[in-house]
Amino acid sequence: MTATVIDGKAFAATVREKVAAHVTMLKSEHGITPGLAVVLVGEDPASQVYVRSKGKQTVEVGMESFEFKRDDDITEKELLALIDQLNNDPKVHGILVQLPLPAHLDSDLVINSIDPAKDVDGFHISNVGLLGTGQKSMVPCTPLGCLMMLRDHHGSLSGLNAVVVGRSNIVGKPMAQLLLGDSCTVTIAHSRTKDLAEVVRRADIVVAAVGRPEMVIGDWIKPGATVVDVGINRIEKPEGGTRLVGDADYASCAAVAGAITPVPGGVGPMTIACLLANTITACCRANGLPEPEGLTA
Ligand code: GUN
Repeated sequence: MTATVIDGKAFAATVREKVAAHVTMLKSEHGITPGLAVVLVGEDPASQVYVRSKGKQTVEVGMESFEFKRDDDITEKELLALIDQLNNDPKVHGILVQLPLPAHLDSDLVINSIDPAKDVDGFHISNVGLLGTGQKSMVPCTPLGCLMMLRDHHGSLSGLNAVVVGRSNIVGKPMAQLLLGDSCTVTIAHSRTKDLAEVVRRADIVVAAVGRPEMVIGDWIKPGATVVDVGINRIEKPEGGTRLVGDADYASCAAVAGAITPVPGGVGPMTIACLLANTITACCRANGLPEPEGLTA
């Protein structure tokens, strides 16, 4: 079997189109321009690339982008004061603090100081609790993007066996909650899981989010299963130079799977698209307006 390739780049473009249409409606019918604030502390090159890309796409869909760049010697008190200012700014509907933060700052404290209603990353402990109990919440962007692609490919996910490989707070755990919410039978596996290959072989849906390059191999995949690859790893090529690979070994998995997301061009582009979607959701909720269809969990 040769797997259907799930085109995350194209899917993300359709999500951005829906977001842009909603922005147009919010502006023309309600005089509201959704605004997203991104806080970047320090000079981490990967974070700078992300933040630039977020800012560009935010403006492209018609929203306001507010960027706050701070030196890495900012004190926790100063950072908390900035977040307090954004929490109280009516033009700001979404707040994202780029992670990782420098070691002297307590990430949990900082994230939990964001107004949960503006927490477009879905990392605030209130949103984690709401998601875990099946209540309306802000949902982390990467798992939300995975869920959208899975729903689009499968229609209903009800009753399917899903194995999430990886237990991070950002992807693995919220992904498992979302799949459970769609009535999958969910297993969270990880690098220490016994007989990991056997566990993965039971899955109709495999989400590879373990942070190890090409760890999930085709031999572990049930024929016809769907593989969603969240990993982004840069590895050395034998002939020199580098290439991007996921947490699944693409060639061997694609030979067995029914569908697979590539790296790059799979889950990656969906993350920022879902950040924009979450900002619309936050903006609609803040203004007592109906939530956009198809852009939330
Ligand atoms: N750093 C890498 N990915 C993310 C993300 O999705 N959100 C935040 N806040 N920081 C990140």
